[in-house]
Amino acid sequence: MEYNLKNKSIMVTGGAGFIGSHLVDRLVKEKPSNLVVVDNFFLSKESNLTEAKTNYPKLKIFNQDVGNLFGICPKCGELCKRST
Ligand SMILES: NC(=O)c1ccc[n+]([C@@H]2O[C@H](COP(=O)([O-])OP(=O)(O)OC[C@H]3O[C@@H](n4cnc5c(N)ncnc54)[C@H](O)[C@@H]3O)[C@@H](O)[C@H]2O)c1
Repeated sequence: MEYNLKNKSIMVTGGAGFIGSHLVDRLVKEKPSNLVVVDNFFLSKESNLTEAKTNYPKLKIFNQDVGNLFGICPKCGELCKRST
């Protein structure tokens, strides 16, 4: 089965971690329209995403706990937080 991610919006939670950052590097090659990383950097650092930022300058990185997350707006790529 072939997947075309060109017009897709993708969010990777824990995207600065070991598996997540490698997944992000792979997804960048698919040229999605929005690619968003959500990570609280508890176990990682933003420099894990240096290559991804170079190859995909519009990468959005949110320093955010996923527990506070409601979703990503597919149109603007901004983060919608859970209301408290
Ligand atoms: N070089 C290597 O081979 C190597 C290096 C590191 C890890 N590992 C292995 O990889 C596995 C771990 O990789 P992984 O990617 O699953 O874990 P990870 O810890 O690398 O990544 C998890 C990510 O999720 C983030 N995170 C955790 N809780 C969060 C929350 N509530 N909200 C937002 N972000 C949150 C962390 O900050 C981190 O960036 C282990 O098995 C480990 O042994 C291998």
